[in-house]
Amino acid sequence: MTSDSLTQKRIVTVFGGTGFLGRRIVRRLLEKGFTVRAVSRHPDRVAALFSLDARAPEAIRADILDPASVALAVAGAHTVVNAVSLYVEHGNRTFERVHVKAAADLAAASRNSRVEQFILISGIGSDPQSESSYIRARGRGEHAVASTFPSVIIRPSVMTGPDDTFLTVLVRLIRLLPVYPLFGDGGTRLQPVYVGDVAEAISHLIDRNDPGGSSIFELGGPQVYTYEELLREIARQLDIQIRLIPIPFEVWSVLARMAEFLPAVPLTRNQIDLMRRDNVAAADLPGLKQLDIEPHYISEVIRAIEQANR
Ligand SMILES: NC(=O)c1ccc[n+]([C@@H]2O[C@H](COP(=O)([O-])OP(=O)(O)OC[C@H]3O[C@@H](n4cnc5c(N)ncnc54)[C@H](OP(=O)(O)O)[C@@H]3O)[C@@H](O)[C@H]2O)c1
Repeated sequence: MTSDSLTQKRIVTVFGGTGFLGRRIVRRLLEKGFTVRAVSRHPDRVAALFSLDARAPEAIRADILDPASVALAVAGAHTVVNAVSLYVEHGNRTFERVHVKAAADLAAASRNSRVEQFILISGIGSDPQSESSYIRARGRGEHAVASTFPSVIIRPSVMTGPDDTFLTVLVRLIRLLPVYPLFGDGGTRLQPVYVGDVAEAISHLIDRNDPGGSSIFELGGPQVYTYEELLREIARQLDIQIRLIPIPFEVWSVLARMAEFLPAVPLTRNQIDLMRRDNVAAADLPGLKQLDIEPHYISEVIRAIEQANR
C-alpha cells in the first residue's frame, strides 16, 4: 500500500471540529489526504463551514457529555483530537464536567476502541493546583486524560487569526477608543500564536504518527510581548496613536462577572484569571521549532484580520 492510501485509510475524529482551532485542524488534515470526522452537536454547521472547500469532512453529531454518541464518533478512528472548549459554565456544563470528566471519558472511549493516537488541546498555564476553577480544571483534565491514554498534550498560548476573539477585538477597539484600558499595569507577558500554525503543528504530529507515549508541546508565536507592548505594537501596525490607562484586575473581574450574563459573552472571568499570569511557552518543552514550523508574525496576522474584515 502506498503512503497516500495509508493516509486516506487513517480516520481522524476531531471533537470541536467546528471551533476556531478545530475547523483549521480539520481543513489541514483534509488537505493532507486524511479521512476526517468533524464532531459537533450541530452537524449542519459542519456542512456550512466546509461548503467552499475542495474536500469536506464527515459530519458527526455527538456531545462529549453523551457516552453513546462519543463511542460512535471514535469507533474505527486511528486518531482522536479533543479541541472542545468551555469558557463559561452553564448548568451541568461545568469546567470540571467538560475539561476533566468528559475529557477523561473521551480518552477512555478511544482506548476501548483501540484508537492509536490521542491529542488533547489544553492551554499554557494549566495548573491542577490553581485557585482559578478554569485553570485548575485544565490542569486536572491533562492528568486525567494522560493517565487514561498516553496522549499528546498541546498547550497553545493565546491564539490569533481572522475571526478570533482576541486580536480581532483588540484591533477593533484600538481603532474605536480614545483611551485603551490595560489589564492591571499591562505587565503580563504573552506569546500570541497564529491559529494556523497550531493547526499545522497538530496535523504534523498526526502525519508523523509517533509510536504511543505521552508528550507535552507548548506552542507560542515568534515574539513575547507584555500586554502593554502588544497594544502598542498593534497601534503601530494600524498607524494609530494609543493612550493607555491601567485598570486593576479586581475591577476587570467584576466587569467579567456582569458580562457573563450577556447573550454573547465579550469577557469572561477565566480570561481575567489567565491575564493575571504570564502566558509564555516553557523553554524546556518542545514547541513549533521542534516541529520545524516557522511561526507567523503578529503583523501578518493583523493584515489578514484587516483583510477579512474589509
Ligand atoms: N482560543 C484560544 O486562544 C485558545 C488558547 C489556548 C487554548 N485554547 C484551547 O483550544 C481548544 C479549542 O478552543 P477554540 O477557541 O477553538 O474553541 P471554540 O472556537 O470555542 O470551539 C469550541 C468547539 O467545542 C465544541 N463543543 C463545545 N461543547 C461541546 C460538547 N459538549 N460536545 C461536543 N463538542 C462541543 C464546539 O462544537 P459545537 O458547538 O459545534 O457542538 C466547537 O467546535 C480549547 O480547549 C481551548 O481551551 C484556546
